[in-house]
Amino acid sequence: MTDPTQTFQLSVEAAEAYEARFVPALFAEWAPYLVEAAGVAPGQTVLDVACGTGVVARTAADRMGGRGRVAGVDLNEGMLAVAGRLRPDIEWHRADAAELPFPDRSFDAVLCQSALMFFPERVRALGEMARVAAAGGTVAVQVWDRLEAQAGYGAMYDAFARHLGPEAADLDGAYWALGDLELLGSLFEAAGLHVTGTRTRVGTVRFGSAEEAVATELDATPLGARIDQETRRRVLAAGVQAMGPFVVDGGRVELPIRGHLVTAVAPG
Ligand SMILES: C[S@@+](CC[C@H](N)C(=O)[O-])C[C@H]1O[C@@H](n2cnc3c(N)ncnc32)[C@H](O)[C@@H]1O
Repeated sequence: MTDPTQTFQLSVEAAEAYEARFVPALFAEWAPYLVEAAGVAPGQTVLDVACGTGVVARTAADRMGGRGRVAGVDLNEGMLAVAGRLRPDIEWHRADAAELPFPDRSFDAVLCQSALMFFPERVRALGEMARVAAAGGTVAVQVWDRLEAQAGYGAMYDAFARHLGPEAADLDGAYWALGDLELLGSLFEAAGLHVTGTRTRVGTVRFGSAEEAVATELDATPLGARIDQETRRRVLAAGVQAMGPFVVDGGRVELPIRGHLVTAVAPG
């Protein structure tokens, strides 16, 4: 079986924590940029691959103002349960990105945020996105830059690695694995997708406190499920200390995070 840490598999409780804490702090900021990069417009058909709790699909649906079709697909039932509870008006499907359950050329735009790095078969998944995209349609993918380029999460993961060793390396290895734009571009080309645009931007991850920033990283990712309470206490304390330079207004934390947005055109 594939290692759940590397494919970002979560329980329903962790999916609820992901939506309540991680989405507003981090993922919600990026969704409009991805939707914009893909040129999503009213009347289109749009697919959100590895939708998680659905922030990209929701952002696309809101932009489309009820005109068109939006679907989300994810491997994880917990994520899909939360997505369906929040937006019953959107289609949610359980499937592997490497085997999308849609006919060829079904969507004007295919979007994928913060997930390609977790797929064991990345070229195959991009090939599936190309297959279900309309001829000349758009595939838009967001990934994080390399860990070395991440001042905030670099400090946090250094602290994790000191206490957890390979346990932390498993997840951080996946998270930041597609930061190299040349490598990323080569995956697109291998899947038959022609890259038309690349944008790198720095976002801000916002938490109420250093403890919340580190606890979210532990509890709303697969990392938390793999450590005992005593280890969690030690890791939390080390992570909180590492957040020192990112504390603002006497308590809140703002972490810079760099990501790439890549757009490509599907073959005609
Ligand atoms: C970090 S979350 C991102 C979720 C969402 N796109 C967002 O922006 O909030 C990664 C998601 O990838 C999903 N995932 C991982 N491997 C997958 C696969 N092979 N096929 C479909 N979904 C997958 C996980 O279940 C998880 O929901």
